[in-house]
Amino acid sequence: MSEAGHSPKKGPSKHGLAWLYFLFGLVFVAGGMYAIFYHGFLGQNNQNAYRQSTGQGIIIPPLDIIPPRNAQSIANGEALYKTCAACHGPNLEGISCPSLKDDEWLHFKEPKETALAKLINRGVGASEAIKAKSVMPPRGGLENSTQVWEVVYYLSTRNPNIIKDAPQPK
Ligand code: HEC
Repeated sequence: MSEAGHSPKKGPSKHGLAWLYFLFGLVFVAGGMYAIFYHGFLGQNNQNAYRQSTGQGIIIPPLDIIPPRNAQSIANGEALYKTCAACHGPNLEGISCPSLKDDEWLHFKEPKETALAKLINRGVGASEAIKAKSVMPPRGGLENSTQVWEVVYYLSTRNPNIIKDAPQPK
């Protein structure tokens, strides 16, 4: 008797709990997506990807913090070049993307440091790539203006064709 009395009670209460779990799950997933898309959990590039998907332009970070050119900044640039190596080759030889070592440039008439810094800072969008079938993310994956200039100083030491016109440090 008591068995029969229990089971109809148990059924609906279990069902109700399942819905509660489902709701919790939904709130968790929605919250996570919100955090990722609007607060840039995956960093600035993700924010740019979102802006591009909605037809807004990418945020171009300023290039105004210029470090001095010395042994330390060039060494920093060499270490930072690892970010570029996946695409431009560990030895600047170019893999899927242009070589940075030769005197053939797709994007410049004259390979001036200021022009390189500008391109690196901006990245190369899908519609801007000339030969490659890929894109270059803003700053090539670097974090700030100082790092962009440090990589440029390093490239200048490796490629004598690059014209050293970087402005004085500010
Ligand atoms: C995800 C791949 C990728 C990464 C990482 C990347 N690049 Fe690029 N880079 C590209 C692509 C794609 C192009 C455009 C190629 C084209 O137009 O066909 C390019 C173009 C360039 C150019 C212009 C070359 C020319 O011939 O005019 C320079 C300079 C450059 N990158 C420097 C860098 C530096 C420095 C870094 C690291 C801070 C970097 N890139 C990181 C993919 C990358």
